[in-house]
Amino acid sequence: MTTSTRYDFSAEHKYSYERDGFLILEDFLSPSDCELLINRTHELMTQLGDAHSRPFFSTVNNHHARSQYFLTSGDKIRLFYEENSINEKGQLITAPHLSINKIGHALHDLDPIFNNISRSHKMATLVNKLGIADPLLVQSMVICKQPYIGGEVVCHQDSTFLYVEGQPITGFWFALEDADIENGCLWALPGAHKCLLKARMHRNDHDQIYIETYDESGWPENNMRPLEVSKGSLIVLHGLLPHMSKINLSPRSRLAYTLHIMSGQFSFAADNWLRRNPEMPFQGFTTS
Ligand code: FE2
Repeated sequence: MTTSTRYDFSAEHKYSYERDGFLILEDFLSPSDCELLINRTHELMTQLGDAHSRPFFSTVNNHHARSQYFLTSGDKIRLFYEENSINEKGQLITAPHLSINKIGHALHDLDPIFNNISRSHKMATLVNKLGIADPLLVQSMVICKQPYIGGEVVCHQDSTFLYVEGQPITGFWFALEDADIENGCLWALPGAHKCLLKARMHRNDHDQIYIETYDESGWPENNMRPLEVSKGSLIVLHGLLPHMSKINLSPRSRLAYTLHIMSGQFSFAADNWLRRNPEMPFQGFTTS
């Protein structure tokens, strides 16, 4: 595993990324960038919070995938709540802003602060060095991992959900707060991005979502390694790398911002769940 204490993407980093399927770049975001994104996240929670509708998100049962609220969120900024944020009477057990699972999926296009950090010169340079030609920014999310209730994200490959024909999509996971084993850091299987895709989520013409499984065998989760990182670190994730995170039972949140980028030289599968209004296509680092 290679980490970098400063931004100096080198041939060694490229080799390590190709070997492991992930790369940690410490201090990629400055403390003030992290504060800016955290403050903006809290503003969005206040502006968009709607505790009455409470659309939930869970990778354990994927029930969210049946809702139009989720299916039409590819070109919007929407909130999703933790499934275990309500009691048996349907009441929130914590304050609304501490009940939100995530915000997605077009922060990078619709919010000026997220846009600036997603489309920084530093990001464009990194993406170029990773060999992603004609990059397109596809999806963004803030994942909250709230204290005590932040839900598990089951082991998966991102290409299951964002399939690009030809070259797997790349994930960029920015730690806005320290992430460790106690508050639900990422875990990954080093080198397993060389395995084939095990499953794909499809959305058919009737807006039905289903998972097609190619390989029923599970991942050797005992071999997973925790990727504990400090605030400001960036973890680059190959689209075929199996990764997960556990429930956060600690009193600390674990806010992260994630961005997914594909090469415009390949095709975003037409039956991916994420859809865009034709007037709002994916764009690169310079927008029109
Ligand atoms: Fe993921």
